[in-house]
Amino acid sequence: MVKSYPAVSAEYLKAVEKAKRKLRGFIADKHCAPLMLRVAWHSAGTYDTASKTGGPFGTMRFKAEQSHGANNGLDIAIRLLEPIKEQFPILSYADFYQLAGVVAVEVTGGPEVPFHPGREDKPEPPVEGRLPDATKGSDHLREVFGVQMGLSDQDIVALSGGHTLGKCHKERSGFEGPWTHNPLIFDNSYFKVLLSGETEGLLRLPSDSTLLTDPVFRPLVEKYAADEDAFFADYAEAHMRLSELGFSEA
Ligand code: HEM
Repeated sequence: MVKSYPAVSAEYLKAVEKAKRKLRGFIADKHCAPLMLRVAWHSAGTYDTASKTGGPFGTMRFKAEQSHGANNGLDIAIRLLEPIKEQFPILSYADFYQLAGVVAVEVTGGPEVPFHPGREDKPEPPVEGRLPDATKGSDHLREVFGVQMGLSDQDIVALSGGHTLGKCHKERSGFEGPWTHNPLIFDNSYFKVLLSGETEGLLRLPSDSTLLTDPVFRPLVEKYAADEDAFFADYAEAHMRLSELGFSEA
């Protein structure tokens, strides 16, 4: 599929660069990269290829979407981001939230995810229930990422590596604990821990464990655990595709 991105003004591009710098400082200072990555992903991951609804179009700004069960705690992210967003009225919320996700990966030592501006804000949130259920296995992941969002098996494994950042909070998801020993560093430790079977002080969701038992997913887990450069390259591509679902398809 050929992507042709909308042209944005020089003034808009300047605001993107400036917002990026503000976000770098803010996210580093507040140690909130995991939450910022999660808000960007939950904004984009509602995209439905069949109806062309949902997706990274700024609708997380609405209380209605923040109150979806899967989004527990993301109201905090929106509240944290708002004072920075207010400094850049020219930017769409859609671009701004996705920029926060890209910066979160960058400032924690992850790959540079290409960012293309020009998303427009949609007026209404998507229906609830499009984000993955952590208690389910590979069929469910393929249903949500593959059929609904139009992403590949490789994208599923690479993007799951986003759990190299952050932790689960009992009061938000019912689960508790980090996936790795360094949850503020973006590296390939998620895959290393998954393969090692280490559990001391760490958590693993059923949707993480399924990557080990599925015959297509497992070789990718092994590849990313052994080769961080390969993980970073595939992750950057997959994150970019996620952040551009429903955006500028020609
Ligand atoms: C594969 C399906 C996925 C499932 C079922 C899933 C599920 C979850 C759950 C239950 C939490 C805990 C929320 C909390 O209690 O605070 C979480 C956190 C998180 N997820 Fe996922 N996730 C998935 C994919 C992804 C993807 C694709 C990314 C990004 C590329 C991602 C990034 C994160 C991050 C960074 C956190 C930590 C948030 C924090 O520390 O506040 N997840 N995820």
